[in-house]
Amino acid sequence: MKAVVLDADDQFRITEAAVPAPGPGEVAIRVAYAGVQYGDVLVREGHFPIPRPFVPGFEASGDIVAVGDGVDEARIGEQVTALIGGGGYAEVVIAPAVLAINAAQVDPRTAAGFGWVTPTAYDLIHTVAGVRPGDSVLIHAAAGGVGSLAGQFAAAAGAQRIVGVVGNADQVDYARQFGYHQVLAREEFPDALGGEKFDVILDPIGGDTRVANVARLAAHGRIVVYGNIATFEPVTVSANDLLMQGQSLMTYNSNLASQTNPKRLADSAARAMSLVADGSVRIDITAEYELSDVETAIANLAGGQTRGKSIIRVR
Ligand SMILES: NC(=O)c1ccc[n+]([C@@H]2O[C@H](COP(=O)([O-])OP(=O)(O)OC[C@H]3O[C@@H](n4cnc5c(N)ncnc54)[C@H](OP(=O)(O)O)[C@@H]3O)[C@@H](O)[C@H]2O)c1
Repeated sequence: MKAVVLDADDQFRITEAAVPAPGPGEVAIRVAYAGVQYGDVLVREGHFPIPRPFVPGFEASGDIVAVGDGVDEARIGEQVTALIGGGGYAEVVIAPAVLAINAAQVDPRTAAGFGWVTPTAYDLIHTVAGVRPGDSVLIHAAAGGVGSLAGQFAAAAGAQRIVGVVGNADQVDYARQFGYHQVLAREEFPDALGGEKFDVILDPIGGDTRVANVARLAAHGRIVVYGNIATFEPVTVSANDLLMQGQSLMTYNSNLASQTNPKRLADSAARAMSLVADGSVRIDITAEYELSDVETAIANLAGGQTRGKSIIRVR
């Protein structure tokens, strides 16, 4: 089968590889499309210690073609989207059966775009921050994969004010369609907000933005840290200062959850999938690449040239 390999020289190359077989508790999926996500950028930049050569691709849609011991054979033929630790940029991928999420109600492109971003956005808004009707919510990288979904989940949860922050004026217009009442270009944050504070802030950015975010939390507000797009430099926050305002700093790590509590992540994914299937939440796929263009797809995401979700056509 064809597979894209990331080598020690940071280059992505298409190679011929043996078709993998599922082990106990696993399924083999014939890949239709794979999703592109920020983890691809982090892996390419060496932020995860994954030995090379390595077949990247952390999310893939397709149909189950084989099951390992302990997995119901009736799942063969099922349309799924898989949350995986790699291997998605290939014609066949192995996934834990529990994280091969049924995707029969959506088309294979949408299923690939669903990826990790949809359960992540769902969990950030519902499970972690617990957005309630009337809350105000501030979301960074609002035009991106997670951001374009988090705005919609916040709206569906009844948030009364949802503000997004994006990289430039073009992204401002784009992001507005995803539930946002106001979208700011990055250079306008935080000054354009005046003295406004928020009940919930989603922060995948880090650094000075994280410091500014903490200052924008309302009493009893929750800030959820879930990435470090701008910098991995640590930010110090005083627990005593948070306590004085009844505020909480929370984190979310879906990759860890996939290892420590995959069933809980799968349950969130299934709930998010039903909201996508019934049209409450829309995954906006804006770019489709061939398997031979994985490098370009990831470079475009790293360079801030993408919106919504990018996918790779494998079959
Ligand atoms: N913790 C978890 O479980 C989890 C799960 C999934 C994703 N994530 C994280 O969520 C974040 C978004 O992931 P994604 O796959 O949906 O990517 P994405 O949002 O589609 O792409 C990243 C976006 O970051 C923005 N950006 C780039 N450089 C920036 C900078 N210096 N400052 C502020 N914004 C910048 C760009 O948007 P603009 O063009 O608008 O600037 C870009 O589109 C990433 O940090 C990823 O690691 C975490």
